[in-house]
Amino acid sequence: MNSQDLIDTASKIVADDKGLLAIDESIPTCNKRFAKQGIPQTEAARRAYRELIITTPRLGESISGLILYDETIRQQKTDGTPFIKAIVDAGIIPGIKVDTGAQEMALHPGEKVTEGLDGLRERLKEYSRMGARFAKWRAVIAVDESIPSRGCLEANAQALARYAALCQEAGIVPVVEPEVLMQGDHTIERCRELTEDALHTVFAHLYTQRVMLEGTILKPNMVLPGLTCPQQEGVDAAADITVTCLLRSVPAAVPGIAFLSGGQSGELASARLNAMNVRFKSHLPWGVAFSFGRAIQQPALEIWNGRETNVAAAQQALYHRARCNRAARRGEYVAAMEKPWKWDGVSGAKAA
Ligand code: 13P
Repeated sequence: MNSQDLIDTASKIVADDKGLLAIDESIPTCNKRFAKQGIPQTEAARRAYRELIITTPRLGESISGLILYDETIRQQKTDGTPFIKAIVDAGIIPGIKVDTGAQEMALHPGEKVTEGLDGLRERLKEYSRMGARFAKWRAVIAVDESIPSRGCLEANAQALARYAALCQEAGIVPVVEPEVLMQGDHTIERCRELTEDALHTVFAHLYTQRVMLEGTILKPNMVLPGLTCPQQEGVDAAADITVTCLLRSVPAAVPGIAFLSGGQSGELASARLNAMNVRFKSHLPWGVAFSFGRAIQQPALEIWNGRETNVAAAQQALYHRARCNRAARRGEYVAAMEKPWKWDGVSGAKAA
């Protein structure tokens, strides 16, 4: 392990007000999203969609790294160029999702534990040879009156820490993702309490496993009320509570926090990220960035709809959402950016 390389890569991921774009949906998840749009659920369609994303002009202005899936990292553009090469040539760092999914946890009804540690050392070696410089592992924490349990928080945190240690041994920056889910009617205060607990547990295990925090990126949920909670706080209140929670639980040695979007709309995710940076950026120890999947991709996926003729318009929508999030990192995102936008002289329809 070369510590300086890990530190450099982790710093680059959150440098220059950029962030990560997750295009690492597993085959079943990608197929589910395609099915909703009536797009064929084939390897060819998944490849074409990922090519659309990877070849989006000027994506690297706002996106520092792309998180790929095992199928995607092995694919090529129509002209035969490996995706990895196209990504690096665009000035973007390639990353890879390495967990194998969340499975039901034994003796813990309603809870899940993420798997994928078996054989991970060998897989990381292969991904590193292919050019991946960072990795992602997602733990999911479901919420209701009686969960999460201690057992779920501890098992997921330990797996995240063992994954992170294996990544650093292989010279790969771990993106550590403990996600407290938004499904449920819990209050924002309960989300804060659980997110704080989850993060304390994760950092305790990272310490035990000797993970170097300077070479690690945290990918948490924003602190938000459950989707069906009657009380829905505004953007500023959510920003205040999220930052309070993170200041209490994330060591200053971590270079960056890159939020997941978790099903928020693109506009809301940008507005919330923006509020955190407007209100706190100048006095936070870490960069507050994004690692969004749906909140960047969704409009582009809907515009593309599986049709070659829609590629350019879909790329404009993707570029637009990425650009909004870079503005949000600077505290410069305003709702007016969402008015029908222009790009390279071509007017684009506002993404729904
Ligand atoms: P969302 O932003 O769609 O939640 O996806 C981010 C991600 O990578 C989840 O693991």
